[in-house]
Amino acid sequence: MSISSQNELNGMKAISEAVGVTLHEMREYAKPGVSTKQLDEFGKTILEKFGAKSAPRLTYGFPGWTCISVNNEIAHGIPTAATILLDGDLVNIDVSAELNGYWSDNGGSFVLGNDINNHLPLVEASKNILRKAIASVKPGMRISELGKIIQNEAGKYGYKVIKNLVGHGIGRSLHEAPKEIPCYYDRYNMNRFKKNSVVAIETFISTGSSYAYDKGDGWTFITNDGSFVAQHEHTLVIMDDQAMVLTESNGILD
Ligand code: CO
Ligand code: CO
Repeated sequence: MSISSQNELNGMKAISEAVGVTLHEMREYAKPGVSTKQLDEFGKTILEKFGAKSAPRLTYGFPGWTCISVNNEIAHGIPTAATILLDGDLVNIDVSAELNGYWSDNGGSFVLGNDINNHLPLVEASKNILRKAIASVKPGMRISELGKIIQNEAGKYGYKVIKNLVGHGIGRSLHEAPKEIPCYYDRYNMNRFKKNSVVAIETFISTGSSYAYDKGDGWTFITNDGSFVAQHEHTLVIMDDQAMVLTESNGILD
């Protein structure tokens, strides 16, 4: 969507606060021994306090309130009672929701407890790349140019990017124009970022794989070569000087 009034901005700020706080509190709640189902149910209670409705559930009938992806899972992981979080796991929580007709999306990967599997360099790189992407995005800039920046930055760390998972426009629905904000340089994409438009920018930084594959449960994306992926996502408004990050309350870049 494009922000054309204070009312619309306030609507986007309210839902962004809801998904940001939910993500933040879920990260705090995540502990070794907790199942992803318990973590998801906890997230549900926070969304409900804000009066917000889970976006993947509302839009796609996703079997959970939030997406929780562990280790070789990249995205859209289904919360289950059987998935017990362990010390050193690479965990990604993605929270998107709707409130009063406005939609916002955010997510972040983190290492649970002690970094015994050495995932932190990947997580830190993904955060730094999102910082760089947010600092770079401007009205009139080609979307492909942002993809080039993300891909180049990943390469500096010796990492790859996932090509078939992308950022997107958002606001009046979960996914709207521009439908694809990739993490790589797509020279055929001539679209440009528009001033005052709301977008969800997300990194998909990989230690090996360049593509996400179906796990076979109808939802979850995984790597198929044992590699790991970190994702960090903010919803923001494109502005002349500096993007206005709406989901800052998630604290993922702190
Ligand atoms: Co998301
Ligand atoms: Co998104």
